Amino acid sequence: MAKDYPNLKIRNMKHSDIPAMVHIISTDLSPIDGKKAHKDLTDQSRKLYDDGQVFVAESEGKLLGLIGYWRMHYHPKTVCWMDWFGVEKNHRRTGIGSALLLYMLPVLAKKRYRMLCCEKSSKDIAAKLFYERYGFKEAGRIKKYWEDGGDWVVLVKKL
Ligand SMILES: CC(C)(COP(=O)(O)OP(=O)(O)OC[C@H]1O[C@@H](n2cnc3c(N)ncnc32)[C@H](O)[C@@H]1OP(=O)(O)O)[C@@H](O)C(=O)NCCC(=O)NCCS
Repeated sequence: MAKDYPNLKIRNMKHSDIPAMVHIISTDLSPIDGKKAHKDLTDQSRKLYDDGQVFVAESEGKLLGLIGYWRMHYHPKTVCWMDWFGVEKNHRRTGIGSALLLYMLPVLAKKRYRMLCCEKSSKDIAAKLFYERYGFKEAGRIKKYWEDGGDWVVLVKKL
């Protein structure tokens, strides 16, 4: 696992990680601007959730990826959703995404979640293959939802 990074560490995010996380989100994951990503990661935004945590992958002091989950008060107590999840572009396919997911799954099971849901575009082929590899199943789809014509796809993993 994460064979190129023997010192890879997965840990809870810290406030001081936010600039590096914003960099990954805004340059490698989503075309949203940095300010929105920053706001999304602050404590104030996180207070909207009934539960939620974000974890980061770090090697030699460099942040290489992040993963998280959240649950709003109106959701069933056994269901949570994937938060930001991604790995810096130049470090993909080396097991970091797997290390992040495999770190988070037992945390969710311990909290008695039974289902982890996530959403993605049908155009995200790497994400599709990654999620398939880890047993996520398609649970719903809205065709041509995104501006680029991609479908909105909801995937579910039973915990
Ligand atoms: C999806 C993502 C997080 C995967 O992270 P990663 O660190 O590259 O994943 P891993 O190296 O742990 O890959 C695990 C397995 O997933 C599958 N996989 C991942 N990326 C793949 C790709 N580009 N092509 C084919 N299979 C892929 C493979 O089965 C892989 O195992 P292998 O390398 O032994 O063949 C990463 O591609 C990413 O950041 N994508 C952009 C953001 C995103 O789509 N996030 C998720 C949607 S919400």
